[in-house]
Amino acid sequence: MRNHELIERLSHLVGDNGLVLDAEGQGPYVRDWLGKWQGSTPVVVRPRNATEVSAVMRLCHQTRTPVVPQGGNTGMSGGATPDGSGAQVILSLNRMKRIREVDPVNNTLCADAGVLLADVQAAARDVGRFFPLSLGAEGSCTIGGNLATNAGGTAVLRYGNTRDLALGLEVVLPDGRVWNGLRGLRKDNTGYDLKSLFIGSEGTLGIITGAVLKLYPAPTGRVAAWVGADTPAQVVALLSRLQSVCGERLTAFEMMSARCLDLVMAHVSGAASPLAGRHAYYALVELSDTEPAGLPALLETALGAALEAGVIQDCVVAMNDTQVQSLWRLREGISQAQVRAGKAIKHDIALPISRLAAFVEEADLALVSDFPGLPIINFGHIGDGNLHYNVLLPLDVAPAEYARLTAALNRRVHDLVAQRGGSISAEHGVGQLRRDELRRYKSPVEMDLMLMIKRALDPNQLMNPGKLL
Ligand code: FAD
Ligand code: MLT
Ligand code: ZN
Repeated sequence: MRNHELIERLSHLVGDNGLVLDAEGQGPYVRDWLGKWQGSTPVVVRPRNATEVSAVMRLCHQTRTPVVPQGGNTGMSGGATPDGSGAQVILSLNRMKRIREVDPVNNTLCADAGVLLADVQAAARDVGRFFPLSLGAEGSCTIGGNLATNAGGTAVLRYGNTRDLALGLEVVLPDGRVWNGLRGLRKDNTGYDLKSLFIGSEGTLGIITGAVLKLYPAPTGRVAAWVGADTPAQVVALLSRLQSVCGERLTAFEMMSARCLDLVMAHVSGAASPLAGRHAYYALVELSDTEPAGLPALLETALGAALEAGVIQDCVVAMNDTQVQSLWRLREGISQAQVRAGKAIKHDIALPISRLAAFVEEADLALVSDFPGLPIINFGHIGDGNLHYNVLLPLDVAPAEYARLTAALNRRVHDLVAQRGGSISAEHGVGQLRRDELRRYKSPVEMDLMLMIKRALDPNQLMNPGKLL
């Protein structure tokens, strides 16, 4: 079918306001926020509800039109950007913003896929509950995008990844049929766990249009500390100590190297080091609870003991929420600071926590020897064994040099990760960024199982072609 016919039929389904046709309007949809990928599309379709998504998908199925689902377009792996062929329609969920139901007794919330993560958090807060998923992009990413990438963020240590926070999904299949799996059940053993197939599938199996999410009791207080240490091994040792002493009250445990803090101080206004001295590594630790009275003493005692044992070198405890937030601003400023400072080659890796410190030691040595002079930007959600072990190139690096170094560094870093039983994609998704790498590190049996699922659900290969597989 010709584009103008397709567009004509789509406009009947979603109305003229539901289509973006002009090049300027399409700009923010056809490129990613990092400026790494740029594609093109005949049309951006913006349905208002699952029924319209279903009608759009039926038409795309009939006309064999490939579809790229898009939420907030904050992804790190190019998963929501179409290719350059001009044949892939973008299906944006950004008009589907309804909180459908909040049930504080069942501790659940049902939302359209296009609701911003920050709005899900606020809706939970309004009924005295807590939705724990938290990440730097929460003001612009959508819950559908979070589910499609199985996003992680800073509260995984206590509450799990997005997968652990979803009880039910509504999904429009590639042929337009709607699967209503919006169950708010904590027990449901009626066969295969279908929702798990779609969570983390990065738009390659269907369009997530709604979800039932788990809510938690709202913590009424939190304390945080900024810690200075000499090595990642010390940071890991502190993590173990705090887990033993604080149990579930330890809600976040992040690490960053001194170079990350330097970057944030150079590029984020008002950012200042919380400690007087300089340390090779820093940790940001947070405790929270529904009964907060004892938290400051608990954290101070645990950190005091770690200082005395020489596990850490220095620390400062933030007592009120303003101080806690300013520590988090340092941590969450790293993404933006990296973008301003250069062109990052990003690694989003996971390792067993027990092997993480040895990995950093070995990888640092390997990179200093094989890629001398390239700054390593090492930070991440160390409590989950997830590191963003990045390398920063100058802003004006030539594209060919960037591509050459990306391939060489990926190979070096990912091989070390694989040798230690790790994963090359912890929380950002595979997208187009790691699609080719995936084949090297997944076993043929795993790849085959994934391809069988893809063929079964999307036999015409219309869902987000060129991503993940
Ligand atoms: P998009 O970028 O629009 O899409 C991401 C993928 O999901 C694409 O493959 C797309 O096709 C698919 N998709 C989107 N919506 C749907 C849908 N409804 N149905 C089917 N498929 C869909 N990520 C983390 O995990 N942890 C972090 O700590 C973190 N920090 C970040 C900090 C910053 C400052 C930024 C900018 C990003 C960060 N991210 C982080 C990455 C990003 O925010 C997440 O990947 C987020 O889950 C993407 O949501 P989105 O709505 O923007 O999805
Ligand atoms: C974060 O944890 O801040 C992001 O996931 C990592 C990044 O920006 O590379
Ligand atoms: Zn992260």
